[in-house]
Amino acid sequence: MSHKVHIFDTTLRDGEQVPGCQLNTIEKIEVARQLEKLGVDIIEAGFPISSPGDFNSVVEISKAVERPIICALTRAVKKDIEVAADALKHAKRGRIHTGIGTSFYHINYKLKSNQDEIIKRAIDAVKYARRFVDDVEFYAEDAGRTENEYLARVVEAVIKAGATVINIPDTTGYCLPAEYGEKIAYLVNNVPNVDKAILSTHCHNDLGMATANTLAGVSHGARQVEVTINGLGERAGNTALEEVVMAIQCHKDLDFETGIDSTQLMKTSKLVSTLMRMPVQANKAIVGRNAFSHSSGIHQDGVLKNRENYEIIDPATVGVKESSIVLTARSGRAALKHRLHVLGYTFEGKELDDIYQKFLNLADSKKDVGDEDLEALAGSERAKEDRSIKLETLQVLCGSTTIPSATVAVSFNGDVFTETASGNGPIDAAFTAVRSLVKRKVHLEEFLIQAITRGSDDLGKVHVQVEHKGKTYYGFSANVDIITASVEAFLDAIAKIG
Ligand code: KIV
Ligand code: ZN
Repeated sequence: MSHKVHIFDTTLRDGEQVPGCQLNTIEKIEVARQLEKLGVDIIEAGFPISSPGDFNSVVEISKAVERPIICALTRAVKKDIEVAADALKHAKRGRIHTGIGTSFYHINYKLKSNQDEIIKRAIDAVKYARRFVDDVEFYAEDAGRTENEYLARVVEAVIKAGATVINIPDTTGYCLPAEYGEKIAYLVNNVPNVDKAILSTHCHNDLGMATANTLAGVSHGARQVEVTINGLGERAGNTALEEVVMAIQCHKDLDFETGIDSTQLMKTSKLVSTLMRMPVQANKAIVGRNAFSHSSGIHQDGVLKNRENYEIIDPATVGVKESSIVLTARSGRAALKHRLHVLGYTFEGKELDDIYQKFLNLADSKKDVGDEDLEALAGSERAKEDRSIKLETLQVLCGSTTIPSATVAVSFNGDVFTETASGNGPIDAAFTAVRSLVKRKVHLEEFLIQAITRGSDDLGKVHVQVEHKGKTYYGFSANVDIITASVEAFLDAIAKIG
């Protein structure tokens, strides 16, 4: 049987320490519920003594989620521990995470203490926390730069005092993978009572080593990993949950399992990115916009022949519908034909050769060729005029003091129908009106607004992806008014349902 690696998510604590990423309690509950769906084992919900908001979040998250253990951070300070215990009182299973710095830097310059005194404070904190909860995790802050012999003494002492999980943070992201792996191995081999606790990794990404270090830790005996969604966290961030989970899932030979429902990864990433107002870099592993997108002709051709030629992960396993093909001057005929097919056009033989030539000419003068360009190439201007569903008029009411509403008039084969609806914004209101006009169950799966250039008076491009009876349809429009562009793109996709 595979070894279980416990997933400890600290997006709501270490992740939330990022400037500008603060969430209110309602938003934190939304993230916590999604983390529960994702299948994490432990949610670090906050640092209760740090602010009334953090205290309240730990209380409310404890009430809102059922299965994961709820963890609260403290320093090795009695008052911190009391406040954390109070915040956790509604948790079905609560954990206090207490600790102190153990490196030369922390002991001498931050705590102005000495090694023996630090061990004593660590023992006292763990014993005190055990008065309130059975599950106490101890962190040896800056363990990454703590010499192994002393670290082993600290770990032995806190396990003896009742710690159930021992966190070995590479607080400054200093370690190299072999070094961090050896540190965990040293503890496994030199702490006599190590079998009485679980060793945990907590790696920061200052040298871009966080995922590698975490996996090295697991390979040498750690059975809990402390991670965040999208790798959010102090400075360069923490280990990204999605990277560790998918590395373990892809490398069955490692013989570990996490219990994470990987199909929830993209959804969780997007939720965290949106709520924390922290965009995910396009080339981010697993959850970046380009993670499953192929742009060179050779790769596109390879992927279309067999996805596994250039992909180690089936996008569906992380909740991404399909790989995407970005058309550039390096794309081949196969990729163009595929994209045109997705847009509803079939080109073969000579016709395909002709449109491919036009495409190459256009691609030479443009960086990326988008769907709107392809539609134009495929003669869709005519098709658009012929289209049976068309936006006639749109009027929206929105602002800070009114409930957003929209009145939409759409013509179906020349007959015009009007509908008014409200929503949580003008686009939502307009889409609701469109849905009731078309009388179809249309599920909006993707919605992307992009400014073509940076000026506020410029064109906005809107791409939508909708699902109807298990099939996907794409819509596009560009307009100086992004609400109009959104409704046109939505109708464009609906019109393709036929
Ligand atoms: O990076 C770190 O050392 C921490 C501890 C507080 C666990 O976040
Ligand atoms: Zn940290």
